[in-house]
Amino acid sequence: MNKALSNDQLTQWDHDHFFHPSTHLGQFARREMGNRIITGANGVHITDREGRRSLDAFAGLYCVNVGYGRTEIADAIAAQAHELAYYHSYVGHGTEASITLSKMIADRAPEGMNHVYYGQSGSDANETNIKLVWYYNNILGRPQKKKIISRWRGYHGSGLMTGSLTGLELFHKKFDLPLAGVLHTEAPYYYRRTDRSMSEQDFSNHCAAKLEAMIEAEGADTIAAFIGEPVLGTGGIVPPPVGYWEAIQAVLQKHDILLIADEVVTGFGRLGTMFGSTHYGMTPDIITIAKGLTSAYAPLSGSIISDRMWEVLERGTDEFGPIGHGWTYSAHPIGAAAGVANLKLLDDLDLMSNAKTVGAYLNRAMRDALTDHPNVGEIRGEGMLCAVELVKERETPTFFDASDKIAPQIVGNMLEHGVIARAMPQGDILGFAPPFSLTRDQADEVVAATLASITEILG
Ligand SMILES: Cc1ncc(COP(=O)(O)O)c(C=O)c1O
Repeated sequence: MNKALSNDQLTQWDHDHFFHPSTHLGQFARREMGNRIITGANGVHITDREGRRSLDAFAGLYCVNVGYGRTEIADAIAAQAHELAYYHSYVGHGTEASITLSKMIADRAPEGMNHVYYGQSGSDANETNIKLVWYYNNILGRPQKKKIISRWRGYHGSGLMTGSLTGLELFHKKFDLPLAGVLHTEAPYYYRRTDRSMSEQDFSNHCAAKLEAMIEAEGADTIAAFIGEPVLGTGGIVPPPVGYWEAIQAVLQKHDILLIADEVVTGFGRLGTMFGSTHYGMTPDIITIAKGLTSAYAPLSGSIISDRMWEVLERGTDEFGPIGHGWTYSAHPIGAAAGVANLKLLDDLDLMSNAKTVGAYLNRAMRDALTDHPNVGEIRGEGMLCAVELVKERETPTFFDASDKIAPQIVGNMLEHGVIARAMPQGDILGFAPPFSLTRDQADEVVAATLASITEILG
């Protein structure tokens, strides 16, 4: 920490010069909302410049999976920076770190997925995926098979294509998105179903039927791929209803449509299993990875490509020359070194098992504490993911008006109790995705702060 700089000075510069993502720019500039300057972190806690310590129950942006302050990863990054801070990975170049990481990912990936392309963010990885899907269909001689189906409430990034794939209003509004060629189908959100009489399996069949109707209306020969998160993340932390992926995959296979599993959140252990795809019996053609790949110690993302697709890509370059796709920072050595150290730590400390057992404990404790509250509509989760959905009235259910800002108020109040949760962007949903190293006592703290804040705001 630079003690020569005062908090006031930094705050002034912050409001005057720093363009923050996902922030109300007007309110920030007018200082109607505050800033927070983070200075350090250890385990599941972060500390700010005013000396406030918070239990980070969202692991940054569900990415610091192994927890903060891991010297093993910091040391690996420093060693890599000293030895070789950068070299590119074009035309067959690589580093020990990037090659080792590729082998480690292939060893952990579902069967038949053996090649990894690297980027820096979940967004750019999904941009890559769509380009590869288009390339694939061009090589196969079906240039009209290009549209991509995503889901309402899906989150796949905020680039031009990925912002289009994202199915959340905030990410489209006034940006002229979605682009043509991107379609959205029903979200697998059982709690918000319109026909209340449906069972979970009925609802899954209904989602699959809606997907198939869309494919038939557009023409299957125009649809290239379907993209989905195994568990809907930013759209509300919604595990799929019973039989969902089975029903969806049957439709995709029937119409020869590729499946992209966006595992930016679920990859590398968050559900208590290495990948959400195996957790739910999915057989994707591409898996998107980011966040948990390095636990955010350095920016790195990737696309894991199935052998079936790989064979066509290889054939394409035999016919048309080297693949015209690459980033300067693809497989950046520092990111790759962080990835190797992070995946090793995940194994050495058996953190995935902790995500499973303590995650189940957190979900159970949340249910025990909150189920009876009249404004708690649903408590749901899987592994180290949990959500509490707040409602005005439980029976129908009826939701609060967005302008009431219920979830943001509760999350603001929770901070006073020393716990960070996330107000998910669409609906009054409190999101929890702590580091995998969370203990049962810390889970109890998270639950106690949630209950106290819901009671303080809603009675
Ligand atoms: C499922 C999913 N895909 C893609 C992204 C985009 O990743 P990034 O913010 O690194 O671009 C996110 C980010 O939260 C995500 O949750």
